[in-house]
Amino acid sequence: MELGDVFTIRLLTARPTVVAAAPESVAELLEADPASAHAGEARRSVLPFASPRSIFGGDGAAHDEAQAHMAPALSAAAVDARREEMEAIATRHAEALPRDGTPIRLLERVREVTDEIFVRVVLGVRDERLVARLVGSIRHMLRTPGNPPVTLPGPGDGLAGALGQKLFERRQAPALAALTEAVGDEGRAEELMSLAMAAQEPPAIALTWVLDRLGRDSELAEAYLTMPDGEAADAVVKETLRLQPPASAALRKLTAPRQVAGFDLPAGVDVMVPSTLVHRDPRGFEDPDGFHPERWCATPPPHAPYFPFGGGARRCVGEHLAHAELATVVPAFLRVARPVPLAPEPEPMVQRATVLVPKHGLLARVPLRNR
Ligand code: HEM
Repeated sequence: MELGDVFTIRLLTARPTVVAAAPESVAELLEADPASAHAGEARRSVLPFASPRSIFGGDGAAHDEAQAHMAPALSAAAVDARREEMEAIATRHAEALPRDGTPIRLLERVREVTDEIFVRVVLGVRDERLVARLVGSIRHMLRTPGNPPVTLPGPGDGLAGALGQKLFERRQAPALAALTEAVGDEGRAEELMSLAMAAQEPPAIALTWVLDRLGRDSELAEAYLTMPDGEAADAVVKETLRLQPPASAALRKLTAPRQVAGFDLPAGVDVMVPSTLVHRDPRGFEDPDGFHPERWCATPPPHAPYFPFGGGARRCVGEHLAHAELATVVPAFLRVARPVPLAPEPEPMVQRATVLVPKHGLLARVPLRNR
């Protein structure tokens, strides 16, 4: 069925959403004045538990205040200064992988690494007892069996929403208490809840997919290992995030009417800018479904819209951290326990709440030569 570049979808727990997949409207939407296109409000329609006081779920002054609190810890300088520590965390987790040939779900293992990096590097927690409590409670809060394609219903979703809210409150209570102990203030802890979520799953998915590609191509893995900040590694990361973007879309709620690719959209509309569609648009990328890292080394590299981290004023604030993780965690795993995927082809992507994950969490095995 041909839907065109702009169409409406209706999701179970979210209101009707206009999908805008026209390449020419991507920058215009993402870089719109944040007052006329609310990212926080739009995200809360799919993640109803994100606090309106958080960087992720807030808009206007509330967003700016929450962002100012975290900007120093997430700056390139602060993050780069902790790279050795990140590598040490990843090495310890890689060393703990099963040595008896048992298949593992790599994504689950990598989530443990990103949780610990968040607690130690971003929150700066030093007390080992509190580190263990925070990592455990964040994991508990976010653990969900399987890949439910929709998020929990929340406020505004009737009886199911009221029940969902109760369930989530119960689940998040230990993490909220631990975060309150870490930062000494319940309001600040509430701001950090969605940051803990954003710092776990998207980078864990990105790391997992990059390890998947490198587990299939030893030459590429060696090139990555030799220079994790070099051009070849960067091209692998870019191409992986093009084909397998952890966040399937950037969202904005229009607070003023706007023309998008020739359509007049009224105020109040939720707009989704889907990286999954635009990154595979043959108008922008040759052989769009093929994995060709070399396209990013060409002169000039592709000029098509490419936005795994979103864009504009609401672009991902964890991008430096994500790149530092890709440059430290991946080499640590490659050195210690290079996981080899079990499936002959990359697992299909499936929707898990608001992100896209490998269908089986990337089933892999650590080969004998690494033991
Ligand atoms: C490869 C890893 C990551 C990917 C692909 C990713 C992707 C994204 C995307 C697509 C957005 C929406 C941007 C927009 O609406 O324009 C976003 C926002 C955000 N991300 Fe990430 N992210 C990653 C890692 C992280 C990490 C490690 C953190 C936390 C330290 C983080 C925290 C956030 C926050 C707080 C926002 C909201 C920013 C705002 O609205 O001002 N992300 N991310």
